[in-house]
Amino acid sequence: MREEKIIIANWKMKLGLKETLDLAKEVKAKFKDFKGGEIAVCPNFISLLEAKKILGSAIKVGAQNVFWEGNGAYTGEISPSLLAEAGCEYVIIGHSERRKFLMVNYEMIHRTIKAVLKVDNLIPIVCIGENWDERKTDRRDFVLFDQLQQALGGVDIGPDQQIIIAYEPIWAIGSGTAIEPSEAEYAHKIVRLTLNDMFGMSVVNKNFKIIYGGSINSKNVKKFVGLENLDGMLVGGASLDADEFYKLAKAII
Ligand code: 13P
Repeated sequence: MREEKIIIANWKMKLGLKETLDLAKEVKAKFKDFKGGEIAVCPNFISLLEAKKILGSAIKVGAQNVFWEGNGAYTGEISPSLLAEAGCEYVIIGHSERRKFLMVNYEMIHRTIKAVLKVDNLIPIVCIGENWDERKTDRRDFVLFDQLQQALGGVDIGPDQQIIIAYEPIWAIGSGTAIEPSEAEYAHKIVRLTLNDMFGMSVVNKNFKIIYGGSINSKNVKKFVGLENLDGMLVGGASLDADEFYKLAKAII
């Protein structure tokens, strides 16, 4: 699974319905002849169905959040199977903005991953990453280890199931400055070694991807090319411009 890079756009809550669909059209046109990597776009819930129609099958669609129950009295929530029905092939779980503003924790993330893995063809993008205080006080390695243990400990991964781990250092998100590539590589190595301990190296090589997110753009992405443990990017701000997103994707594949 590791050979092909994946570049995922997280449009967050930054666009209205019309803006989302206009951007989807631009992305579709821009990536018309794109080859060599997987592209996925995560619009807001309201725009998902229409965006899927526009993007077709070459560009995948993902959701920005999902609930851990399959059905029931859970006002305001969306189930994994509903996302699959809407054409989503990816879903972001536990983004740091949700951990910050909605008190999402890794116990919730754990339940959500298990629920998503029960649905065919829906790939979880599990967000991890330390905050600035943890980084400054040299606790990053432990934080990553702990987040992965809490999120994925005891989770059964089927032979054909895929999981994407998005390492997003919270202090780099939206800051305008990505972390040093060497630091990303180091963190990804910690992630890989932890996953190797948990699932075994062959499962990790086959079923996992480890991607980076945090102020990545078409210029600084060039310094990340060729990192051994980097399987792709999760892009916020720079994915809101089709041309910029295309350049970024071209640079990394
Ligand atoms: P930025 O690229 O805007 O820093 O956002 C990263 C992110 O949070 C992607 O999920």
